Amino acid sequence: MFLLLPFIVLIDVKDFAQTQGSTIPPLCQKGYFPCGNLTQCLPRAFHCDGVDDCGNGADEENCGDTSGWATIFGTVLGNVNNVTLTQECFLNQYPQHCDCKETELECVNAGLQSVPVISTNVTLLSLKKNKIHSLPDKVFTKYKELKKIFLQHNCLRHISRKAFFGLYNLQILYLNHNCITTLRPGVFKDLHQLTWLILDDNPITRISQRLFTGLNSLFFLSMVNNYLEALPSQMCTQMPQLNWMDLEGNRIKYLTNSTFLSCDALTVLFLPRNQIDFVPEKTFSSLKNLGELDLSSNMIMELPVHLFKDLKLLQKLNLSSNPLLYLHKNQFGSLKQLQSLDLERIEIPNINTGIFQPMRNLSHIYFKNFRYCSYAPHVRICMPSTDGISSFEDLLANNILRIFVWVIAFITCFGNLSVIGMRSFIKAENTTHAMSIKILCCADCLMGVYLFFIGFFDIKYRGQYQKYALLWMESLPCRLMGFLAMLSTEVSVLLLTFLTLEKFLVIVFPFSNIRPGKRQTLVILICIWTVGFLIAVIPFWSEDYFGNFYGKNGVCFPLYYDQTEDIGSRGYSLGIFLGVNLLAFLIIVFSYITMFCSIQKTALQTAEVRNHIGKEVAVANRFFFIVFSDAICWIPVFVVKILSLLRVEIPGTITSWIVIFFLPVNSALNPILYTLTTSFFKDKLKQLLHKHRRKSIFKIKKKSLSTSIVWTDDSSSVKLGVLNKITLGDSIMKPVS
Ligand SMILES: *[C@@H]1O[C@H](CO)[C@@H](O)[C@H](O)[C@H]1NC(C)=O
Ligand SMILES: *[C@@H]1O[C@H](CO)[C@@H](O)[C@H](O)[C@H]1NC(C)=O
Ligand SMILES: *[C@@H]1O[C@H](CO)[C@@H](O)[C@H](O)[C@H]1NC(C)=O
Ligand SMILES: *[C@@H]1O[C@H](CO)[C@@H](O)[C@H](O)[C@H]1NC(C)=O
Ligand SMILES: *[C@@H]1O[C@H](CO)[C@@H](O)[C@H](O)[C@H]1NC(C)=O
Ligand SMILES: *[C@@H]1O[C@H](CO)[C@@H](O)[C@H](O)[C@H]1NC(C)=O
Repeated sequence: MFLLLPFIVLIDVKDFAQTQGSTIPPLCQKGYFPCGNLTQCLPRAFHCDGVDDCGNGADEENCGDTSGWATIFGTVLGNVNNVTLTQECFLNQYPQHCDCKETELECVNAGLQSVPVISTNVTLLSLKKNKIHSLPDKVFTKYKELKKIFLQHNCLRHISRKAFFGLYNLQILYLNHNCITTLRPGVFKDLHQLTWLILDDNPITRISQRLFTGLNSLFFLSMVNNYLEALPSQMCTQMPQLNWMDLEGNRIKYLTNSTFLSCDALTVLFLPRNQIDFVPEKTFSSLKNLGELDLSSNMIMELPVHLFKDLKLLQKLNLSSNPLLYLHKNQFGSLKQLQSLDLERIEIPNINTGIFQPMRNLSHIYFKNFRYCSYAPHVRICMPSTDGISSFEDLLANNILRIFVWVIAFITCFGNLSVIGMRSFIKAENTTHAMSIKILCCADCLMGVYLFFIGFFDIKYRGQYQKYALLWMESLPCRLMGFLAMLSTEVSVLLLTFLTLEKFLVIVFPFSNIRPGKRQTLVILICIWTVGFLIAVIPFWSEDYFGNFYGKNGVCFPLYYDQTEDIGSRGYSLGIFLGVNLLAFLIIVFSYITMFCSIQKTALQTAEVRNHIGKEVAVANRFFFIVFSDAICWIPVFVVKILSLLRVEIPGTITSWIVIFFLPVNSALNPILYTLTTSFFKDKLKQLLHKHRRKSIFKIKKKSLSTSIVWTDDSSSVKLGVLNKITLGDSIMKPVS
């Protein structure tokens, strides 16, 4: 321990140097780490990748998390029972089923009901797995030479107060896996040489400070999985040498500022899986030599600011799985030696780089999510190393995603571009409507462009994504892509709502002439693009308020955030997806249902019911497809958003599947639904084909008839002006009579 003292001096010198403006070690920008004593900085992902990127090997050092007791104690534990013995037995007297080597006796599983009579010069006595239920007074007193006693798995219940009397040479005592409920004060009174006391897996409920009387040399105390509810105050006063205390899996509810008051030598303190909910500020203030502290899996909700202030030598701190609500900005300020910090499963609402900055020596940090890693840029190894969308190696973790991102990008782009082309080529009477559709296709096409970029960057980073993940998410291309996707979705949603409302007015109020004219339509279209643009661009406005709104995951789409997200971006994303988009979706569904009912009523009023049956089915089909495509596109998004409101954790995988499969559904299907299946368009197409390939006309006609599950309107059969307007899309282009 004292070997570490020079390092403290070293730190102080370094800190001093830093305040004087000199840079040792070099300060690297966010996400980079220094190459040992060189001035060079490398991205964090180059650390421990098996390649000497620094040139001096500094990036391949300290790769495993070996901080804490493993390094503090070396292999002390491994060598406890490792003494090579000859086969000869030096004991004259011992029970039949026992194994004797020199002066060591093993009576494992020998059915013994009490401690047997043995030669007095026995040094090691193992009575594991027998049926010894009680230890009477002075049962071992004869065996003055005893150094080690193993009594585990006996269901030992009663230990008399004088059971271990006279064992002045005992060094190791194992009492684990028994049925001990109480240990009387003074029971270890004579064990002045005891270094190792194991009391694991007993139902001990209470210990008093006086229990440890006499344990002057105790080095290691383990009471894992007992039922302890509280620790005595100043429990170390009798054990000045105590180095290692393991109290995992008890029912300890609180610690007081005097619990560890005299534990000056304590180096390792394990308290995981207890029920501690309160740790007063001064609890650890006398643990000047503590190297590892584990408080994981407790019920701690708040840590006092200066709790760790005196733990100058702490190397490893585990706070995982606590319901912590808050970390003070200066919580870890004095942990200059800390190498490993575990904050798994902890939400840190106020996370910022300042919390982790003071721990200059931190090499391993464990967080609840991938995103937090960007707040500890100087830490070489940050876990988790992925967020579910991307794997350690690849931007898109999944082969299916990788292939489909290209397929869907192609379908979306090609479909929309071809519609724009055809619309421009085949002139419709209603140019206003055609213009709206073309604009819709433009917006949808952006979605395809976005997917192409995702595919491109996936290929670019294939196999080495871990090196660039953070840089990529922080980069301008990622933010621009997120912007593009957002623009595309929002403009598309708004346009669909507009087109739906337009149709709705025509069909539900056929005789009121409130349809927008060409100029009005143009103004509305410009407004829609402006609104879409504003929605997508607002998050760039304030980095403080929105953080990196788009660069939260590999696909740069701000769909899902966890609870710890900046309130700004969480609220914004919620407002867009559950506000604007849900409203638009509901308007679309409502309008189509009303339209359908209206058409049905009109049809029934007319005499030609039979004529219209087929038409009805076709209209219903088409309406169904439009609403259905909207639904499969948007319902998953709404569900994800609502679940996140209910604080359900959503795996990143789901986000990636939604972004690559569900969101583009609308963009890919819109051109088909709004153009390629409309009767006007088909007629035009037929005419064209007729002109050029007179001979094949029959085939095409047959085919189009047999596959027409979608709306086909033969305008000659439409007698009523109203019905003429009922038809969707292009039919509206026809002049209203
Ligand atoms: C860095 O440290 C190594 C030894 O660890 C030494 O050989 C080398 O000269 C040092 N380089 C600088 C620039 O200080
Ligand atoms: C016991 O110690 C010997 C050397 O003394 C070593 O070779 C062996 O691996 C050790 N065994 C265990 C189980 O540690
Ligand atoms: C142990 O004690 C017995 C007598 O009880 C004696 O014969 C034997 O030599 C002793 N062995 C050692 C190693 O002292
Ligand atoms: C321990 O806490 C109590 C209050 O809970 C306080 O009165 C006392 O002074 C503290 N002791 C030390 C040593 O800080
Ligand atoms: C912290 O504690 C948890 C649970 O007790 C454990 O799973 C985890 O491995 C520990 N972290 C480190 C870095 O040892
Ligand atoms: C960090 O730890 C290493 C080895 O554990 C030690 O040599 C070094 O001095 C420490 N640096 C600081 C700034 O504490």
